Amino acid sequence: MAELVRAAKINKAFSGVMALQDVQFDLNPGEVHALLGENGAGKSTLMKIISGVYTRDAGELYINGNKILHDLTPQTAQALGIGIIHQELNLCPHLTVAENIFLNREFTKSGVLNEKKQNEAAKKYLKTLNLEIDPAIPVRKLPVSKQQMVEICKTLSMNANIIIMDEPTSALTEKEIEDLFKVIAMLKAEGRGIIYISHRLEELSRIVDRVTILRDGRYVKTLNFVETSLPEIISLMVGRALTEKFPRIETDRGEKILEVKNLSSPCGVGVKKVSFNLYKGEILAFAGLMGAGRTELVRAISGADKMTGGEIFLRGRPVKIRAPGEAIAQGLFCAPEDRKRDGLCVKMTLAENITLPSLDIVSKLGIIRRKLEAKKSKEMIQNLKIKTPSVDQYVRNLSGGNQQKVVVGKWLMRDAQVVIFDEPTRGIDVASKIEIYNIINDLKRNGIGVMFVSSELPEIIGMADRIMVMCNGRITAELITKDTSQEEILKYATQYS
Ligand SMILES: Nc1ncnc2c1ncn2[C@@H]1O[C@H](COP(=O)(O)OP(=O)(O)OP(=O)(O)O)[C@@H](O)[C@H]1O
Ligand SMILES: [Mg+2]
Repeated sequence: MAELVRAAKINKAFSGVMALQDVQFDLNPGEVHALLGENGAGKSTLMKIISGVYTRDAGELYINGNKILHDLTPQTAQALGIGIIHQELNLCPHLTVAENIFLNREFTKSGVLNEKKQNEAAKKYLKTLNLEIDPAIPVRKLPVSKQQMVEICKTLSMNANIIIMDEPTSALTEKEIEDLFKVIAMLKAEGRGIIYISHRLEELSRIVDRVTILRDGRYVKTLNFVETSLPEIISLMVGRALTEKFPRIETDRGEKILEVKNLSSPCGVGVKKVSFNLYKGEILAFAGLMGAGRTELVRAISGADKMTGGEIFLRGRPVKIRAPGEAIAQGLFCAPEDRKRDGLCVKMTLAENITLPSLDIVSKLGIIRRKLEAKKSKEMIQNLKIKTPSVDQYVRNLSGGNQQKVVVGKWLMRDAQVVIFDEPTRGIDVASKIEIYNIINDLKRNGIGVMFVSSELPEIIGMADRIMVMCNGRITAELITKDTSQEEILKYATQYS
């Protein structure tokens, strides 16, 4: 059978900066081929070329054995059976689940929308992914993980033969990942080809046949998965071996900096009478399954959602935080989970985003000092190794992982008392994760109280001093990291009461 995709000598530059140079890739029917590389390596760019979002500057592209002579567009790529699940959520928040799935392919008869039929069809696809979602509710009411599943459904409903999944699991729960992997196995058995991009390297062994590695926009190697190992893959990605995954530092914890007492919030899954303390120089992790109420807790503390009960004390004094600005004024900063919605202004430049929370620092008499803004941003870019041609780059043009670094980085210019990170390493490559951990360590060393929410237990065990486990909006356990295990955390994470 002919190869589904063959790309050779692909080149692509963005305003003179090479994103891809002589890159090759191929995909066979019935295989899952992973495309791996660090943040900014060019993975999404290559996939956007194959799916007609970007045009290539040079190189050959064959789809189903046929040479593609003209540039593809998203429409012609779709007609050739190419479907792509984009790294960034691409849904229309105000439209319903069914409307999103069938956008531009609405169920109409003589120009009239048959909503009932459309909702039923959506339900069918939702079912293949084991999803119990009402197709008639607006997408914005769903948590990020469910939105991601809807995005996946949308692509599946197009019945594509070549399915590109760009970081599909970074926002999914364990159960959803299981369900997705079952669907991938099914698609594979039907002879379709799947291109799979992920920074969660541990999950590859469950689905992947071959891997191709890119580094700095260049092709490195293609390997059969069974003939390689994760350390080999990582060293090909990074260009060197990584020895220490979690750079833990030990410091003495200081006095209590934050106290949360009986906090309740009705938003999302809800937060029910949560109490905890955070100390200076301490890293406190919040573990739990997706939907445990951790993001809701963070949002309530940082003023993004309203709290309906409870008290917050900073340095022993009661504080009222009714809006994010009030939290910032108190020295309490939060890097949110949904970078596109809450964390970044994608239509502004990198420099503007980095200094946005610090306008008072970079401006004088209400006027932004552009030189200072550029200088401060450059420092940040160096510290975090953000891959960008300049500080004037629009944030939407950065690779997904580099956008995440901006979300985390922009708070570091401030004098913080407490910094809260919600899933800080989502979509971040193995080497950059260590950079983010080093930032967290710097905060710790400087006596700042750090709270972080994470769904990756190895990261929690590797970095946190203490762990609060949540389930169903409540705290179900408080654990000391060195005395606990993944199994124990999971036990409390599923302790519904
Ligand atoms: N539209 C664009 N305009 C300018 N530069 C771009 C654009 N799209 C991508 N780039 C640049 O091309 C390079 C490759 O980006 P790409 O998004 O392909 O990386 P990636 O491998 O998908 O990374 P990640 O793992 O972080 O998602 C990056 O340096 C990025 O800044
Ligand atoms: Mg990408």
